[in-house]
Amino acid sequence: TYIEWDAVTAEKGGYEYFMHKEIHEQPRAYQDTMRGRVDESGRKVVLPDFHMTDKQIKNIKNVQIIACGTAYHAGLVGRTVLERLVRIPVETDVASEYRYRSPIVTPETLVIVVSQSGETADTLAALREAHANGAHVLAITNVVGSSIARDANDVIATLAGPEIAVASTKAYTSQLIAFYLLGLYFAQVRGTQTEEQVAEILAAMQALPEQVDAILAREEEIKGYAEKISSHKHMFFIGRGLDYAAAQEGSLKLKEISYIHSEAYAAGELKHGTLALIEEGIPVVALATEQALLEKTVSNIKEVKARGGDVMAVCYEEDAKELAKSVDAIFTIPKTLPLLSASLSVIALQLLSYYASLALGLDVDKPRNLAKSVTVE
Ligand code: G6P
Repeated sequence: TYIEWDAVTAEKGGYEYFMHKEIHEQPRAYQDTMRGRVDESGRKVVLPDFHMTDKQIKNIKNVQIIACGTAYHAGLVGRTVLERLVRIPVETDVASEYRYRSPIVTPETLVIVVSQSGETADTLAALREAHANGAHVLAITNVVGSSIARDANDVIATLAGPEIAVASTKAYTSQLIAFYLLGLYFAQVRGTQTEEQVAEILAAMQALPEQVDAILAREEEIKGYAEKISSHKHMFFIGRGLDYAAAQEGSLKLKEISYIHSEAYAAGELKHGTLALIEEGIPVVALATEQALLEKTVSNIKEVKARGGDVMAVCYEEDAKELAKSVDAIFTIPKTLPLLSASLSVIALQLLSYYASLALGLDVDKPRNLAKSVTVE
């Protein structure tokens, strides 16, 4: 038999779509983004090419994280990571809004721009605005030779490798790794975490690639719920804390490639309006990994169930039994530290949108109306 084997098929390495391949590349992307940035003892972050001096780091009064799209969602996680680890006030904004709100920037402001491509017009313009206001600008980007990387004072490169699918997956999770490393590095310099605490988080980070592999090995489990949502026009994602940040990325992923309208809601905010939209059979994905808030999230899930919502929970194995009483489906993820949860929960959401798009027979890699890199404002 004759098998057609063109260049693109070869690049996809046996996967039907680039997105699927890139989802599966995440364990490697996590490792590559960490490599060389953790010292030999495994207990300390080192950032060899970092220009910011310890004095500058100690002087930071506030951080502004600016990005678009999926990178903005990584910035939402970044905010919580930096606030929890370093106790500095952080705000995260979309680049197209940041520029026009006369942001308050001082020489003690650290501006972090996040961009897979390093070429997004609004993000680049925000970087220039921050420079003009005297801020030190750090870029987290996947393209080292990009305009954003060139213009920034400091760069933390994500080593996700080329991302071809329009919907971002491995670039996003690599951005999360970059934020963890940055947070730990600042915590070391400013003394806001003990050596022991830093070592514990690093150990948990080292376990992430294997944990992602364990999730990917069970991807079939998510197909049923993905097929179910593919027949719906609307759905919701809910969560609290970092679960809410991950929910926002999951919701965007679904919109981008399945064209199903979805909204991510802070679980506690549902009752202030959105609950009115919950009717019989509407799918709701509830992220429930934030242990400290679990009871509250469960009561929000019950509010949704009482109105007929069809709920799938994403939670840790140890909570599955309890949650099973209140939901219709469960996808479990391996246990990690609260700070790192989005690196695992989002994998489930990427798979959910991927399989929903497949079920609808859409072109997963090239969604309508969207471009991989947006160089217009
Ligand atoms: C486009 C892409 C998104 C991406 C966003 C920001 O809208 O379709 O996937 O998140 O741009 O891109 P950047 O390269 O700056 O991360």
